[in-house]
Amino acid sequence: MNLSPTAPDRAEAGDRDEFRDAVLAGLARQPRAIPPRFLYDARGSELFDAICELPEYYLTRTETGILTACTPELALLAGPGCALVEFGSGSSVKTRLLLDAMPDLAAYVPIDISRQHLDATAERLRRDYPRLRVEPVCADYMALETLPVDLNGGDMSGAPRLGFFPGSTIGNLEPHEATAFLRRARTLLGDRGALVLGVDLKKDPQRLHDAYNDSAGVTAAFTLNLLRRMNRELGATFDLSAFAHEAFYDPVEGRIAIYFRSLRDQSVIVAGRPFAFTAGERVHTEYSYKYDTADIAALAQSAGFTIDRTWTDPGRQFAVVYLEAAA
Ligand code: AVJ
Repeated sequence: MNLSPTAPDRAEAGDRDEFRDAVLAGLARQPRAIPPRFLYDARGSELFDAICELPEYYLTRTETGILTACTPELALLAGPGCALVEFGSGSSVKTRLLLDAMPDLAAYVPIDISRQHLDATAERLRRDYPRLRVEPVCADYMALETLPVDLNGGDMSGAPRLGFFPGSTIGNLEPHEATAFLRRARTLLGDRGALVLGVDLKKDPQRLHDAYNDSAGVTAAFTLNLLRRMNRELGATFDLSAFAHEAFYDPVEGRIAIYFRSLRDQSVIVAGRPFAFTAGERVHTEYSYKYDTADIAALAQSAGFTIDRTWTDPGRQFAVVYLEAAA
């Protein structure tokens, strides 16, 4: 646990500079776009947790159901003594399903960009799994080339690595980014490595549309929280009632596209600079790509993996795939 009083402040200041630079660059570009990772400040993370509980948002509960059923088989495929490496661990809720099914893991290595999340999660897991070796890595998993060297020593050396990337998080990545991420994961996990990947499946467009346009307006609040964050952290002057959440399924690209849209002509100050928005103008915040079996196979192959096993729910809404490093 980091008890230094200055560390969180400095981390916050660094976060804010990164946020400001990304927002200024994203608003100067045409079409305008702000990367999805900035949706997750404290309030954004809370709102996302609320999204996961929505009746329309089938993803989380469907994946949890699949994982609950498939972990025994998954544990057999992985074999004893592997190190579980989670990309973007957050609060590691789904991880517990794997930990419960794999009591003989060499280690659990959660990788997360948030020091706070990482420390809190590691502490809880060490308490609940006293025999488990927990080795948190504070890093951007999108940029991580190798696991920190000290993790390779001791009784973890030689442990086969099992990656875990649940939640359809891969859906936020554009196809070339998804391939780049999986290639890096392939390198990081090694020749005896495997990866458990959660992907949302292509389905009835109405069902997809509803999952990102819930009747309680939680998804809208999640998108518009980005404006609130810009107001608070960048001294921006967004009027939240003058913008709206917009999400629709694009069947050609196979993705949900999410934006905030200006409801009128207006000018907004962001970090001291004026930005004009015309009525109807959109700023992109997220894609959520949907896959079919062929898409998943092509993605796996492009990154040096083969699909060993696919688990899905009876309604074929969501898939958990077990990828192995291709020979
Ligand atoms: C966290 C990227 C999986 O794409 O479904 C949910 C994010 N955004 N509702 C998704 C999200 C709006 C979510 N992922």
